[in-house]
Amino acid sequence: MREIKTVGVIGLGTMGAGIVEVFARGGLQVVGVETTEELAERGRGILQASVDRAVQRGRVSEQDRDALLRRVRISTTMQDLSGADLVVEAVPEVMAIKDQVFSALDGIVGEDCILASNTSSLSITRIAAGTDHPERVVGMHFFNPAPVLKLVEVITTLRSDPEVVQTVSALSTALGKKPVVVGDRAGFVANYLLFGYLNSAIRMLEQGHVSREDLDTAMRVGAGLPMGPLTLMDLIGLDVCHHIGDVIYGHSRSQLHAPSATLEQMVTAGRLGRKSGRGFYTYARTGGSQVVPDELTPQNGEQAGVERVAVVGEGTIARELVGRLEDGGYAVTHLADASGDLSAVGSVGLVIEAQEELDDTEDGSVADRDVDDLFRELGQTVAEGTVLATVNTYSAVALAAISGRTEDTAVLRVHTPTGNGQVVEIGRTTATSARTVELLRGVVRAMGAEPVVCRDRTGLVVDALLISHLNDAVRMLDEGYAGAEEIDTAIQHGLGYPMGPLAMVDHIGADEVLVLAEELHSGSSCLPREALAPSPLLVEHVLLDLPFTGR
Ligand code: 3HC
Repeated sequence: MREIKTVGVIGLGTMGAGIVEVFARGGLQVVGVETTEELAERGRGILQASVDRAVQRGRVSEQDRDALLRRVRISTTMQDLSGADLVVEAVPEVMAIKDQVFSALDGIVGEDCILASNTSSLSITRIAAGTDHPERVVGMHFFNPAPVLKLVEVITTLRSDPEVVQTVSALSTALGKKPVVVGDRAGFVANYLLFGYLNSAIRMLEQGHVSREDLDTAMRVGAGLPMGPLTLMDLIGLDVCHHIGDVIYGHSRSQLHAPSATLEQMVTAGRLGRKSGRGFYTYARTGGSQVVPDELTPQNGEQAGVERVAVVGEGTIARELVGRLEDGGYAVTHLADASGDLSAVGSVGLVIEAQEELDDTEDGSVADRDVDDLFRELGQTVAEGTVLATVNTYSAVALAAISGRTEDTAVLRVHTPTGNGQVVEIGRTTATSARTVELLRGVVRAMGAEPVVCRDRTGLVVDALLISHLNDAVRMLDEGYAGAEEIDTAIQHGLGYPMGPLAMVDHIGADEVLVLAEELHSGSSCLPREALAPSPLLVEHVLLDLPFTGR
């Protein structure tokens, strides 16, 4: 394995400047190259701001920062790369520009120099084919923000020299990164899985299934991901998302990756995310991360107050609900025996059905009372305007029709805490009134959870997005493109998830994931049915009771 002492980085945008910082932090000499003095200055600014922040946060001493900056030379002359042992390009994702850069490099660097591309989606095989020495070309794909996220996808081609691959991998490890070596395929591991999920999220927004704020809350709090999908796309850049999405769709032809009209229009209209000051959200300044209100920001409407709440049913969820509602300041009537007299709920503002579901009862017996029958009677018993909700897996539309309380009925889905808090999804029908929705939002907040309002479709938001995302990861494993460890490392360290998707399947339970995936596939989810078919490998693991990880 050769020794890497001096590294060149071409292109000093967000990614390029971040990559410069990674190498310089690791003690290497770095030459950063841009095309103009203005762009070089911008790159210097990104690097300076990032290292200054590290000093402010006490992560790096001023002395170390100054030493780090002394290791970096920024230039506008490609010739300055002549002494480099490795050059990483991070120029715009246009093949003609990549071709230009690599053929120029062929004439500048020494024979032993490794050439790497940070491309997120273009074919490394194609880039390598345009050079004099394809055997020294690999992909070295970093994740934004590069100084924070540990993943480096090392992309090999049929021509890559194994010693080059080993050197780049070992260097990444020495820099504190987690390299994952994979073959050349559109989107590689992380972007391929990420963009199916992001596309599904845009689809939900397009269809008016959920608001942008609630969509992000659902995935950040309810699924425990570091950012909501729309916030993340604004960070990545919508033009970049559009480009990567197109490349992946060109390969997969799956409905999951079918280009979104919304994304296309936003890019054409110049709404590129943080970098243009406006994307899905509006930002205080171009390039900043602080979101400011705009015309889509929800107004705090008049909230219908409710003081008395009834919980119907016995069991863990019912008891927890009673406790949290009482802590939230409500007077709670607990009807543990759902088959008893319902007259006690006559004067409450909200009734929540929370009987144990059939499968959950210890002796396998049926729940206290048939829910259809219960809602029919509630419809005849409760006062006008009383909101009816269930935490069980019944359809809000069916319960609204049965109770006759079309404006006042919704379903609630509780997502267990993931370290960030808890989400309660509120599934509404087309007839559910704004008053009912606001009343339920208020109650959920008073219980110390975050409300997410969406249409009552299979999987609501969290399960629909998360389970299809996990199923997609199992499908990638089944296709043999990457192993379980590679997939999990890529997603955990490239996207900052609390654990990889296969570890998540094991954590939730493969059987539970399969049940949810089957429901999504056969149900009314707003995602494309074809893309939701449970992976045969998921079925195998459930039948054989095999975990995906730790074997
Ligand atoms: N540069 C350098 N450091 C940064 C940074 C940046 N742009 N942004 C945040 N940080 C550092 C902070 O200084 C902080 O460090 P410290 O804890 O040691 O003080 C740490 O990261 C956490 O930052 P914050 O507390 O400000 O914010 P969060 O805890 O919310 O973390 C985040 C921010 C790291 C961006 C986190 O939300 C995250 O991991 N999000 C997921 C991002 C993601 O998925 N990226 C991949 C996109 S896909 C991609 O890049 C591939 C490409 O091909 C498209």
